[in-house]
Amino acid sequence: MILRMGRNIATENLVPGRAVYGERLVRKKGREYRVWDPKRSKVAAALMKGMKLDFGEDWLVLYLGVASGTTASHLSDIIRRGAIFGVDPAPRVFREFVLLSGERKNLVPVYGDANHPEGYAGIVPRVDFIVQDVAQPNQAQILNKNVSAFLKKGGLAFVAVKARSIDVTANPRKVFEQFKKELEGVEIVQEKRLEPFEKDHLALLLRKK
Ligand SMILES: C[S@@+](CC[C@H](N)C(=O)[O-])C[C@H]1O[C@@H](n2cnc3c(N)ncnc32)[C@H](O)[C@@H]1O
Repeated sequence: MILRMGRNIATENLVPGRAVYGERLVRKKGREYRVWDPKRSKVAAALMKGMKLDFGEDWLVLYLGVASGTTASHLSDIIRRGAIFGVDPAPRVFREFVLLSGERKNLVPVYGDANHPEGYAGIVPRVDFIVQDVAQPNQAQILNKNVSAFLKKGGLAFVAVKARSIDVTANPRKVFEQFKKELEGVEIVQEKRLEPFEKDHLALLLRKK
């Protein structure tokens, strides 16, 4: 569950007493909540910019570019009866995510490269939701491959598009238009620019056809 608290949003802490990245813990009516920082999480930024996303408590999620699990930890608070498979190829952050998964049993670390979904096809099932935040030049191709391999028909995908990772010199608006043209097998449900939380980023919510 996501709680609106004034200008902040927060998720009910799955592991009371524990913060993950220095976020504020707040008690309300006998429950503990973790404030979800939109400057540290593009999903939080999109929600604060008005994106509507009704998470299912039992969803299976594939998270591409999970890093140390800042955003995934909030998804872990929300998707209590489901599981989040977090993929990342960077050893340092991945180690932190492995430690986090020790105390949050719905997080599953997958050491891998999202360019090669065949590398984790034996571990990751068909999922209800994909999150992608990889900051790579071929972000659209990475998403297409994973949507095709893992996303259920009608399932949703959230992608944070970082214009400067695709082309540092081009006008971000043109980069975003080109990105959208390259998408395959999905329709765009919602889109939000992430300023002031992230410069030159677009968040897209997609549905698999
Ligand atoms: C901006 S950080 C992600 C932050 C994270 N999504 C969060 O909100 O907590 C981008 C991550 O993408 C990862 N990444 C880059 N290329 C990747 C690839 N081909 N497959 C999976 N992850 C990748 C990087 O290692 C890095 O950890």
